[in-house]
Amino acid sequence: MKNDLFYDIDLQKVPEHIAIIMDGNGRWAKSRFLPRTAGHKAGVETIRTVLRECKKLNVKYVTLYAFSTENWKRPQLEVDTLMGLLAAYLKNEVKTLHKENVKLTVIGDIEKLPSQCIKELEYAIELTKDNTGCNLNLALNYGGRLDIKNALVDIVKDVKEGKISIEEIDEDTITNHLSTKCIPNPDLVIRTSGEQRLSNFLLWEVAYAEFYFTNLHWPDFDEKELQKAIYTYQNRDRRFGGIK
Ligand code: IPE
Ligand code: IPE
Ligand code: MG
Repeated sequence: MKNDLFYDIDLQKVPEHIAIIMDGNGRWAKSRFLPRTAGHKAGVETIRTVLRECKKLNVKYVTLYAFSTENWKRPQLEVDTLMGLLAAYLKNEVKTLHKENVKLTVIGDIEKLPSQCIKELEYAIELTKDNTGCNLNLALNYGGRLDIKNALVDIVKDVKEGKISIEEIDEDTITNHLSTKCIPNPDLVIRTSGEQRLSNFLLWEVAYAEFYFTNLHWPDFDEKELQKAIYTYQNRDRRFGGIK
């Protein structure tokens, strides 16, 4: 394995959870005089490459930001293409994911997705639910603020029903009501395309994540770049507010 590495990564210390804001598909296409949808198609190939590498490096959790609650603002044709690509990806990939012991999970309000996507998602989630390898978590119609709002509503309900008192509410109460409750906080957040913002991604969960930004557009990101991100992460000093 060591021989496959482009960077001197410590394989015992790879981040447990990598969350990726896959950005720049449109600009990648534009620079090639292609329609934006061609960029999204190329982006799906990068997903395959990156997941293969994550598996090789033993990354336990991978969260991919695939569609935000704000992405509905895009032209209908682009939204339709993205949903079509999602359904096709799941249909084509589910058997391979299952064979590779990947467990698929989803965060976000998937009820608003087209029925074909919901069907493929439900099938894939059910099929892979007992898998123990890598956890692929897809953020679909996901917004960090919406997730926190939903958690708040659920907590208020619990208070009203007497399941919990106001005095008992602590940070864990909020954590445990988010859609990410079953997965650890991201250690490393990667964003491609040069933008340096969260765009409503995992707002609560990234409190102590390390950030890695690259100017590469998502279709140009590859296994070497992933290794570079991990290598950079491993050379950061995570203090969590303490001192070393
Ligand atoms: C990321 O690429 C894909 C999604 C947001 C679904 P973009 O489509 O945002 O590409 P740019 O940022 O316009 O280049
Ligand atoms: C963030 O990218 C959402 C996803 C990658 C799914 P956007 O392209 O939507 O974000 P902004 O508009 O540049 O902030
Ligand atoms: Mg973008």
